Amino acid sequence: MGEGSRASRSAVVAAPHSGMPHRPKLARPPEPTSQSPRVAYAARRGTDPLTAAFARRQFVVPWQGCEPIGDADVEATFARIVHTPRREPAVAYVHVPYCQNHCLFCGFFQNVWRPDVSAAFVDDIVAEIERLARTPLVASAPIDAVYIGGGTPSALAADDLARLVAGLRRHLPLAAACEITVEGRIYDFGIAKAVAALDAGASRISLGVQSFDTGVRQRLGRKASGEEARAFLNGLVALERAPIGCDLIYGLPGQDERIWHNDVETAIALGLDGLSVYALNVWPGGPLSRAIGAGKIAAAGTLAFQATAYAAACDLLTARGWRQISQAHFVRSPRERNRYNRLIKAGAACLAFGPGAGGQAHGHSWRNVVDVARRRAMVADGRMPIEGLARMPRDHRAHVAITSGLEDGELDLTTVEAEAPGFAEAAAPLIQDWSEAGLGEIDANRFRTTRAGAFWMTTLTKGLFAVLDELESTEAAQGGTPA
Ligand SMILES: C[S@@+](CC[C@H](N)C(=O)[O-])C[C@H]1O[C@@H](n2cnc3c(N)ncnc32)[C@H](O)[C@@H]1O
Ligand code: SF4
Repeated sequence: MGEGSRASRSAVVAAPHSGMPHRPKLARPPEPTSQSPRVAYAARRGTDPLTAAFARRQFVVPWQGCEPIGDADVEATFARIVHTPRREPAVAYVHVPYCQNHCLFCGFFQNVWRPDVSAAFVDDIVAEIERLARTPLVASAPIDAVYIGGGTPSALAADDLARLVAGLRRHLPLAAACEITVEGRIYDFGIAKAVAALDAGASRISLGVQSFDTGVRQRLGRKASGEEARAFLNGLVALERAPIGCDLIYGLPGQDERIWHNDVETAIALGLDGLSVYALNVWPGGPLSRAIGAGKIAAAGTLAFQATAYAAACDLLTARGWRQISQAHFVRSPRERNRYNRLIKAGAACLAFGPGAGGQAHGHSWRNVVDVARRRAMVADGRMPIEGLARMPRDHRAHVAITSGLEDGELDLTTVEAEAPGFAEAAAPLIQDWSEAGLGEIDANRFRTTRAGAFWMTTLTKGLFAVLDELESTEAAQGGTPA
């Protein structure tokens, strides 16, 4: 996934600047209670912090703290957003909501791909790009990175994928060095299609591989074998046309330690430019969870397995000279800029194209209507085909500072304090606790995560968001800015 990519996913980490006023500094930090973050998010002691610091991993949902805009105000609010110019560079996210099949583990599947949708789908998106390109929101400042994600963009026919890339380049104000990533899977991609995308102007390819083990892959619904995955990536690297990266997942059913080490070693041997390693999330009620429950597939790797797998990947990669640039992403070559993810994590505005894409700008987030037919009908009606329009949380700039700091492995507390006065003092006991438990080290105003802290990053993020929430409620109770 470009880590943090998928604007609907990216909203987890990204929050634009809103110009919210700073809040008054807290007179007195709240007393700890059983509900207090410093209790709820305290690390376990006397255990290995990597494998057992917490009982479970926690996640921040993208919409946490967002305030929905009422139906009656959606059109006018969104019109205001698109007619307000940007002052800063943005990213663009194009969503292709089709896949050749639903892989068991995946929570991003939306529609079954049919070859006959390809041309009309791209016609629609290029028309949408052309239409929105004229708005002040899009036209006013450069776009520094574009991510064509999914779903499965590589399912598009070669000429349609090329038309999509060419349409983006023709209509959008792309910066000269704009990075254009095409995401895909091995099945039905092929070198000729990749070359068509590169010839049209794509400048980076990111492939979901998950595992190179054929048995593990096939049980999860991946159609290509591990050998086919290796051969295709070899072919892409040999083109020497663009940085090539892939995603691996640890904790997959049937993926033991030997298989995981082999997955990472295989990625290293391929000479890729970038590699993302993700912990498997088993979505409750999803196909994988049901298959495991019914005994049709082996259980997923335990948290302890995931933790050691993450640490092993970090060790293997860094020992071979790869640089870890975020919690999940590693780079081997300087040409892997990973611009989209970096910008989105820094809170850049995200311009969304295509059904299901999530956007954010001017203190709001939204999602393009997913249903292709409904979307077409709304456009034909002259309505903006969006849903879920919401005001970003009051604390979204602080959220961005926390998330991007922990992602980078170094949280600058003064940056968060500047966005949310009182935060440093309120968070100090929790950060002290995490440091004593081996999850990080405090150096002046910085909290540097250890490898264990990096593994538990989402839990630490949620804990610090809870500190912000507590700070806000305390202020409200003391008669400050209302929560
Ligand atoms: C939405 S998928 C799109 C990639 C492409 N369609 C594919 O099949 O490889 C992007 C990435 O999300 C990650 N992903 C999907 N489901 C996941 C899960 N349950 N847990 C962790 N990562 C997951 C995978 O690494 C995948 O490559
Ligand atoms: S992993 Fe990729 S191909 Fe499989 S369902 Fe998810 S998005 Fe679709």
